[in-house]
Amino acid sequence: MNIGIIGSGAIGSCLASKFIKLGHRVSIANSRGPASLKQLAEEIGAEAATVEDVIKNKEVIIVSIPQKNVPDLPKKLFNNLPEGVVVIDTGNYYPALRDGVIPALEQSGIDSLWVQEQLGVPVIKVFNSIFATSLKNPGKPKGEKDRIALAVSGDNTKAKEIVFKLVDELGFDSFNIGSIAQSWKQQPGTSIYCRDLNLGELEKRIDAMGAEWSEMRNIIIGKHNANETLMAADFPAWLKSLQD
Ligand SMILES: NC(=O)c1ccc[n+]([C@@H]2O[C@H](COP(=O)([O-])OP(=O)(O)OC[C@H]3O[C@@H](n4cnc5c(N)ncnc54)[C@H](OP(=O)(O)O)[C@@H]3O)[C@@H](O)[C@H]2O)c1
Repeated sequence: MNIGIIGSGAIGSCLASKFIKLGHRVSIANSRGPASLKQLAEEIGAEAATVEDVIKNKEVIIVSIPQKNVPDLPKKLFNNLPEGVVVIDTGNYYPALRDGVIPALEQSGIDSLWVQEQLGVPVIKVFNSIFATSLKNPGKPKGEKDRIALAVSGDNTKAKEIVFKLVDELGFDSFNIGSIAQSWKQQPGTSIYCRDLNLGELEKRIDAMGAEWSEMRNIIIGKHNANETLMAADFPAWLKSLQD
């Protein structure tokens, strides 16, 4: 497939490298322009592009930048996106550690609802709930024991089918959470976030969250706030807390 990636950090560069090894064609962009990406592009075999060019003639576009930078993307970037192009959001909201408070995001508290409003196109949320270090692993063939499963949400069924296939190629299972309005189930502060769970355990934990954001919102956001405090004070202790 032709894949465009906005963001060349831990997640963007990891996905670019893995997709190229799988035979896909990848263009990648960051905030500083293609010249700053020359070395990475040569190393992994990607094309370095501007943000405006990276989305041209693509079947899949991955937005992998901090939430605070989403409003900095060119206005109307996705205005003429052809029908059927899949837009993936890998983002997470870290108000205390990185992003600052974004009041419009906090209205719903659902990160990707805000991202798709900002971008003006529906997004599929995936790759947000796995560490870049785990994503880098080769993954496992389908059916193998303890294959890591990734939560996926979004409103477009066809787009999700494409994402499920790409996730499988990368060596992971997918779990379809449902609509983007349900994507709170894969946000930071939940019991599935960055746990490297297999499909059975992921499904069990997601089922246990129930269906009502109004009932879970304070619990999940409260936990995320506490986690941000712990991450700042004692990162290894936070990592240890993920082994629950
Ligand atoms: N790291 C992880 O383990 C992990 C796991 C899952 C999800 N996530 C989430 O995925 C997103 C990306 O994370 P990351 O760790 O890959 O971030 P990162 O390493 O900090 O890299 C961020 C990238 O975004 C680019 N960027 C920032 N503003 C931009 C703009 N206006 N236009 C184009 N590119 C821009 C930066 O380009 P410049 O360097 O040129 O500014 C950089 O390449 C975040 O929302 C993060 O929370 C991260």
